[in-house]
Amino acid sequence: MHVPPYKIKVVEPISLPGPEHRRQALARAGYNTFLLHSSDVFVDLLTDSGTSASSQQQRAAMELGDEAYAGSRSFFRLERAVRQVYGYKHTIPTHQGRGAEHLLSRVLVQPGQLVASNLYFTTSRVHAELAGGVWKDVSVDEAKDPQLSYPWKGNIDVHRLEDLIREAGPENIAFVRLEACLNMAGGQPFSIENLVEVRAVTLDFGLPLILDATRSSENALFVKRREDGFAHHSLGEIMKLIADLSDGAVFSSKKDHFVPIGGLVAVNDDALAERLRELVVVYEGFPHYGGMSGAAMEALAVGIHEAVDERIVGHYVDQTAHLAALLVQAGVPIVLPPGAHAVFLDAKRFLPHIPQHEFPAQALAAAIYLAGGVRTMERGIVSGQHGAEPYDGLELVRLTLPRRVYTQEHLDYVAEVVADLHRHADTIPGLRMTYAPEQLRFFQARFEPLAPFSVGGIEGHALELSA
Ligand code: F0G
Repeated sequence: MHVPPYKIKVVEPISLPGPEHRRQALARAGYNTFLLHSSDVFVDLLTDSGTSASSQQQRAAMELGDEAYAGSRSFFRLERAVRQVYGYKHTIPTHQGRGAEHLLSRVLVQPGQLVASNLYFTTSRVHAELAGGVWKDVSVDEAKDPQLSYPWKGNIDVHRLEDLIREAGPENIAFVRLEACLNMAGGQPFSIENLVEVRAVTLDFGLPLILDATRSSENALFVKRREDGFAHHSLGEIMKLIADLSDGAVFSSKKDHFVPIGGLVAVNDDALAERLRELVVVYEGFPHYGGMSGAAMEALAVGIHEAVDERIVGHYVDQTAHLAALLVQAGVPIVLPPGAHAVFLDAKRFLPHIPQHEFPAQALAAAIYLAGGVRTMERGIVSGQHGAEPYDGLELVRLTLPRRVYTQEHLDYVAEVVADLHRHADTIPGLRMTYAPEQLRFFQARFEPLAPFSVGGIEGHALELSA
């Protein structure tokens, strides 16, 4: 049983468009789910970013928003919430996560320096590179094996990290980045044991350790459930411990903090904070709002406290596990173990007849939409390939759960659509890319099918499944 620790007060109507409507919408979107209109989508599992339901406490707090340009009461409430929950001394608000990544990269990265990280996130890497940095993956090998059910795929390989620092010289490393619930590996956590080891290495070499703490609530929950010695700690204690073992963090508050927009960079070092504040006024806004309204900062301050509520975070992770279990039962290949915010389909095994240069994950995301009006996201060669570098990495489709939004019935419907599609997978054709922007191409790239786009005629079943 996964009974939600909340009930629904405000609802947003959704409906399933007919099969022909979906076919046309998909073609108009160039077979890229980012380019679909949300009015053409039934169940939207594109992202957990900015799509969560807010609480009545957040809505009420928004009335208190102080919209003063400078010295806003709402900013000081936000700063207090960050200190109480994470403990960082300085909070610099930004409009969203990538705003925080931009400021941090500008301040910490010198041209030619390396950023060592567990895998990468798209916007995090691009900002480090635009500042002249070079991204270096130091994740554990297990992160790249979707079939291996290893509990800590978010860990950094400490030996690989040490070798990299010794070879390059510590002066050539900008910072070490550790992402909580590693998105590109399937939402996979790091262990406290690994964090402690990574911390020791960064202290030895005098390097800053910066967390991407966007999904640290779920990471803390996995620590509580999986790691020896933490079962009796509260979620808040574990989150604080994680933050204490770092020099600072960037957050996209659009995830764990239940707000539609907002981000933070939080650090302990006074000089670093001063440099971040010098830049925030240039790119985001005055340091007391950084691109957010007073009302948005109030909702965020409340959301930060809700992010330590074990029942809310636990129910969310259980919903993901429920969807994963249904798919595993139906024989659908997914990344194991299921992660925090999403179930990731392994497109290489779902569509073994499509070679990676014909974009199997992109084709699968398009097919899931056509089959049942469900929107998902490609996380494979389109998102991951970098310039002319060859790419033979993970080829995944992400079914991402917004927080507190969908019911178990929605998830059961999604599982049926995907299982049905899996039985007709051999009819799905590969794609050809017809347009790609230079940066972050997955957002806006367009495709054409290499054969008439088919899901084996099942697109008509969806209406029966949803009824
Ligand atoms: N870091 C991580 C780990 C993220 O997942 C994201 C965004 C960001 C930084 C950037 O934050 O979107 O607020 O600018 N992830 C979204 C997703 C887009 O769908 O996974 P942002």
